[in-house]
Parts: sequence; C-alpha cells; structure tokens
Amino acid sequence: MDHSLLTQLETIRQIQQHRFDSRTPAEQRNRRGQFATPPLLAREIAQYLRIAAGDHLPNLSFADPALGSGSLYAAALAEFGAERIVSAIGIEIDEDLCSIARTVWAETGLQVVCGDCVSFLTNNNYLPTPNLIIANPPYVRHHHLDLATKRRLQALTMQRTGIHVSGLAGLYVYVVLLSMAWLARGGYAAWLLPAEWMDVGYGAALRRFFCEQVTLIRIHRFHPADTQFADALVSSTVVVLRNEPPPPDHCVVISTGGTLLQPQMLRTVPLTRLSAMSPWSAIDAALTPTSETSPARPPLLLGDVFDIRRGIVTGGNDFFILKRATARQLGLPDACLRPMLPPPRFLTTTVIEADDDGYPCLQPQLCLIDCDLAEEQVRAQYPALWAYLQTAPAELRQRYLVRRRKPWYRQERRDPAPFLCTYMGRRTDSKSPFRLIWNRSQAIPPNVYLMLYPKGELARLLHQEPDRTAELFAILQDINVAEFAVTSRVYGGGLHKLEPSELARVPATKLVERWPEVAGEAAVQVSLW
Ligand SMILES: C[S@@+](CC[C@H](N)C(=O)[O-])C[C@H]1O[C@@H](n2cnc3c(N)ncnc32)[C@H](O)[C@@H]1O
Repeated sequence: MDHSLLTQLETIRQIQQHRFDSRTPAEQRNRRGQFATPPLLAREIAQYLRIAAGDHLPNLSFADPALGSGSLYAAALAEFGAERIVSAIGIEIDEDLCSIARTVWAETGLQVVCGDCVSFLTNNNYLPTPNLIIANPPYVRHHHLDLATKRRLQALTMQRTGIHVSGLAGLYVYVVLLSMAWLARGGYAAWLLPAEWMDVGYGAALRRFFCEQVTLIRIHRFHPADTQFADALVSSTVVVLRNEPPPPDHCVVISTGGTLLQPQMLRTVPLTRLSAMSPWSAIDAALTPTSETSPARPPLLLGDVFDIRRGIVTGGNDFFILKRATARQLGLPDACLRPMLPPPRFLTTTVIEADDDGYPCLQPQLCLIDCDLAEEQVRAQYPALWAYLQTAPAELRQRYLVRRRKPWYRQERRDPAPFLCTYMGRRTDSKSPFRLIWNRSQAIPPNVYLMLYPKGELARLLHQEPDRTAELFAILQDINVAEFAVTSRVYGGGLHKLEPSELARVPATKLVERWPEVAGEAAVQVSLW
C-alpha cells in the first residue's frame, strides 16, 4: 500500500479522534479509559518493537485488544509496512470508535470487532492468533468493575495463565494477561501501561507473569512529571515482551526518563535481581553505580569480554590511504604501508579473508602510509616515499591531528582486531543498523568502524582454541546490538551512531549461554553494577 495513502488515512484518523475526544463526556472517557496514544509515542513503540523483533517475524498478524481509533495500528503499518502485516484485528467496546476505525482503515484489511475484549479473548476460537500485539489497554479502575465481573475475570485469568489477580486490580491487568495468553508463542508484544503496576500490591500479578512466563525485554518508565497524555494524569511505562519463557541468565533492559528511544538512563538488570525486588520502581536507585546492592550474579557485558575502540583517524584519508596498486606504481616501500579497510559502504562481505601477506581479499586493496622514520631518514632510505610526502597539500599539514604527530605521517598504533562493528547505519528495514564483521586479515579500519579485541578469559580461550572463532562470530551476529544500543544517537534520516561505550554496555548473555567459561574472570571486572 502506498505510503502517502497511509499518511492520509492517519491524518483523517487523528482528526476523527480529536472530534471524538471533544464530544465525549469526561465521565465516559474515564470510565472506559478512553485516552488515545499520541501518534509520536505510538510510532516510537512500534519502532522499538521492530528493532527488538529483528528478523523473527517476517509475516505479522497484528492485534490490539483495545483498538480505539487505531493509533497503534497506524504506527505498526508505518513502521513494519503494510506488506508485512498479513492480518490485523482490533477489538473495541465503543461503537463510535469502532465506526471511526472501520471507516478509516477499511482499505488496509483491519478487522474491527465491536465488543468487550475480555469476552472475545476468552471465547477466541474464531479469532486469528496474533504474533504481534501493540496495545494501550483501558485504564479502568477496579471500582468501575462490579463484583461478579471481577470474579469472572479472576477465574478466567487463573484458568489461562495460572496467575491470581487481586480484586483491587484495574481492568488493564486482566487485559494484559488474557491477551498474552492469546499471543502466539515466540510473538512480541508492547504494552503502554500506567506506572503503578511496578509498585502496587495488585501489580504483583503482572510482575510475576513478566518474570516467569514470558521474556521481559524492556521496561521504560517515563518521568512522572512528563505525562504522556495531555488529558490523563498518570505516568506511563512501556513494557516489551516476547512470548516464551525467559532464557537462563536473562537480563532486562530498564530505562527511565526521556523517550523510549532516547532515554535519560538505561541499564540492563538480571531478571533474578528484578524478580527479587519490591517495589520495582526502586530499581532507579539500585541502578546508580554508587548503589550498595549487588546482584547475585552480575551480567556479562560486551565491554567485559572485549576492549572496544574506534578505528583510526588518519588526519587525511585522501592522502594517507591509497590503492595498493597505486602505491606499487609509485614505488612506495612495503615497510611503510599497512593494509587498510574500506568504509562499510564499500564492504559487501561480513567475513574478510586474507591474502598470504595479510592484505584483505578485497578489490581494490587499500594501504595506509604509516612510518616512524624521521624525514631525513625517509629522504635517504625511501626516495619514492619522500617524493610522495612532498605532494601533501599545505592545508593537510596544518590540520590539528597531522601537526601534532611526530613525524606527521606516523599513524596511531593499532593492532588489527578480529571483529568489527560498523559505527553508524540507518534503520531502513528490519535489520539492525549496525553490522558485525569478522576480520581475518591484518587490515585496520578507519574510524567508521568499532574494533573489538577479545580480552581476559575470552582471549585466552580463543588463543587455545582458535577454531572456535567462527562460532564466536556467529554468537556475536546473533546479538541484536540495536535492541540494546537504544542510547545510540539518532541523526537526520534515521542515521544511528554507536560509540564504543554504548557497544560495551550490550549484554553478552548469548555468549555466556554458549560459553559459560568466559564469565569466570570477567564477572569480577564488572564495574557497572
Ligand atoms: C487507552 S485507550 C487506547 C486506544 C487505542 N489503542 C490507542 O492506543 O489510542 C483504551 C481503549 O479501550 C477501549 N475499551 C475499554 N474497555 C474495553 C473493553 N472491555 N473491551 C475492549 N475495548 C475496551 C476504550 O474505549 C478505549 O478506546
């Protein structure tokens, strides 16, 4: 479906939603929890889910059990693309909103079911099973639910999830639990919830469910003063889940403040630590580095097993980096040249093989001028290099970095790194903006890459068993860097940049699962916790 058509439909929806909000009495909106998700927030939630799901869900069956006019459906369409959504269903109790959603989204194939979602979720034989739920369930307090309704909801939830829900819980607690029982195994869900579930007694049902029955990927808590809804005075959280039991040593990404994609604070917390904590909002204090609380077993982060550095800054790539064939034609001495990698946009492979002399098997091969000899020695020993150096533009010699180097054509000392991660990229499709590369050559990269040097136990292991490097690379590729590196800066056009410190904070859980032995020494090096 045409992108501009989707934009038009979303504009119409926003206008209709606005009219609905203006004409609907406040009392009704409160009783039914009718507070539409602001479009920007909806889009951020869908974007995060897209990153978190990665390639796991090539075909999507979307569902929103509390559809409203379809703010979250619109975001899913925009973010995942209409082609990827093979089916979509929304349940909504309000006829007026159903009619808006039906009219606006008719052409997109959204099935709008009018009625109480709890009834549909518990008699759902004929509803298609979703693998993606994005929802902002109705914040209807328990005193709007009569005793018989509560009893029925409690019994249904117990039957579907084995979780007891307190009679003080609002409707949203039941909607989350029953919807998760509807979601396909391995499916993803994002919930926009009032922050109270993290602390209050009746939130225990959700906390337990999130820790025991599903994989809790992320909790973001907006700053309490920064209410997400102009017309509702509740502070909000976004909870992202995958519907399968948590893997051992699972770590949850917790963030607060700012926005979902640009939080003020972000940490990973072992699930074991979170589940032992009460109330959960205490996590903020516990996450500060000065905290005295320490987890039973600290998580391993990439920074614990790799030294991570940016590639080198040459001070003038056009002058210092040459095609190897050109360097040969000019007669430049091999002793003053180092193999160099091209920028990621010219690198089509993820494994860089090497020639016999360590140069990458890439075309064209590049080399970097790098020489320690003083100018008089270069002139005497290597006249061809001396002649080339004389062609350096005066402006290049004046550059800060070049001026400070002694001699000015000596480059940073840097060993080749076996693994590289691209420093920036765009989120244009379901793939991560960052690429991991296995560098089997002696080439060093420019600063548009991050270099990963194994250290500690991991370095020792690889030294003993170099054949396992391929296995390590496969594990690294499996880590969804973008999912965790949400603090990476976003530039115009969706360009993301990833600093070494950000990559260092990515949990190495998958590595520990496969190679538990690497955790030994590194566990005591963790400084973040
Ligand atoms: C917080 S709003 C979210 C609407 C929309 N998904 C969005 O994000 O803008 C919750 C919606 O749930 C609807 N609702 C309330 N009780 C419901 C129920 N029992 N079954 C289905 N929908 C319900 C309300 O009418 C309201 O439209």
